[in-house]
Amino acid sequence: METAFQEGKEEVISAWYMDDSEEDQRLPHHKTPKEFVSLDKLSELGILSWRLDADNYENDENLKKIREARGYSYVDICDVCPEKLPNYELKLKDFFEEHLHTDEEIRYCLEGSGYFDVRDQNDQWIRIAVKKGGMIVLPAGMYHRFTLDTDNYIKAMRLFVGEPVWTPYNRPHDHLPARKEYLDALSKKQAVEAN
Ligand code: LAC
Ligand code: NI
Repeated sequence: METAFQEGKEEVISAWYMDDSEEDQRLPHHKTPKEFVSLDKLSELGILSWRLDADNYENDENLKKIREARGYSYVDICDVCPEKLPNYELKLKDFFEEHLHTDEEIRYCLEGSGYFDVRDQNDQWIRIAVKKGGMIVLPAGMYHRFTLDTDNYIKAMRLFVGEPVWTPYNRPHDHLPARKEYLDALSKKQAVEAN
């Protein structure tokens, strides 16, 4: 299942290492020269991704298959724009605080776009740009943050296994079991790849 629906995925999900300038968080923040990150590298970090048909999300068999295979029983749709999100400014500020969750963060971009920033195994920021049709899963225990880009709009489907828990644990929360499990899984994966 994880290898299905890959066609054109790079058009809706791309990633790069970030510079460390203090400029507006909504700008791309490429390094000079640009340093792109492959989707394979993201999967080494435990991130799953798909490209789906966002115009047909209500009747999409591929989405249905993913939900069944991964147990994503819950969905809702979240519009991130000043008119539709209560406490917009405050929420955006919170989303951009580096944090982790004790469950996966699963987001499917139905319209607009946004940046999910994640830490690589050396604690460097990777910016993942997700556009309409891109769906990503950040593993439990992975430090990350979110921002809109300069287009200032995303409509995202949020999925979850069972009753949703959105609690962010701002860094540092290294003692949480989810963090330890994530680091364990990462080092096991790296050991396998090194052999
Ligand atoms: C979340 C994203 C913004 O926790 O990281 O909802
Ligand atoms: Ni989060």
